[in-house]
Amino acid sequence: MHCIPLLASASLATAGLLSSTTKRDTWGGRVSLGPTKSTTINAVSTLIPGTAPSTQNGVDSVLSLWPGMSNGTGDLIQTTLESWTDNSSCGATTSQCAVAGSDQVRIEYNVESNGETWKQTVINAQTGDLLSTYSLVSGPYMTGHGTGTECNDDCTGTVAAQEYRNTKITLASADTAFGDTIASATGASCKGLGSSEGGKVWTIQRINIPAMS
Ligand SMILES: *[C@@H]1O[C@H](CO)[C@@H](O)[C@H](O)[C@H]1NC(C)=O
Ligand SMILES: *[C@@H]1O[C@H](CO)[C@@H](O)[C@H](O)[C@H]1NC(C)=O
Repeated sequence: MHCIPLLASASLATAGLLSSTTKRDTWGGRVSLGPTKSTTINAVSTLIPGTAPSTQNGVDSVLSLWPGMSNGTGDLIQTTLESWTDNSSCGATTSQCAVAGSDQVRIEYNVESNGETWKQTVINAQTGDLLSTYSLVSGPYMTGHGTGTECNDDCTGTVAAQEYRNTKITLASADTAFGDTIASATGASCKGLGSSEGGKVWTIQRINIPAMS
């Protein structure tokens, strides 16, 4: 367990950190939680991506940052912030492509009333501007959560740290052991793991992912 609970944050400086010797890899640091014995009905987090690499290593190289969730076999729900050599390859309009390093990008996943359709809503948390929405029928069984720093096709890795603020995961029913499943890798750390409503709502104040290089 590498997340420091709210009440023990005084010992943060040493206890939350893994080895600081990181090297460029196909994956950067990550923090994960799950699977829960319940299922997820809502998940929200605010990602501050940090300065992106000025360009990418090749035309197929892509660096992608995301909070994601799945049940291990079904769809992976993820909104990604991506870095490509050519901005036009993301297939989006300029405003959808452009996220500055200091932007606070609030990403919310919410299951609709049919219990099967997941709506992804992305806003700029500072301005309230809507950046994108997406809906897909992906089933009711989302049990695992994690952040991803994914570096494909020999990408240029992150050159700045990422931060995920005020992550909040709401389960369909209480799972008091959900917090025990937290794990981190490759230098990632977190603090302020807490729960309310008897283990139905789980929060993580901060997740910190170091730069890959
Ligand atoms: C991508 O678009 C952003 C925002 O318009 C710009 O600052 C950046 O230089 C572009 N990157 C590349 C590699 O063209
Ligand atoms: C994951 O969700 C899909 C789609 O709802 C479902 O078909 C599959 O059985 C689920 N897998 C697990 C391990 O629950």
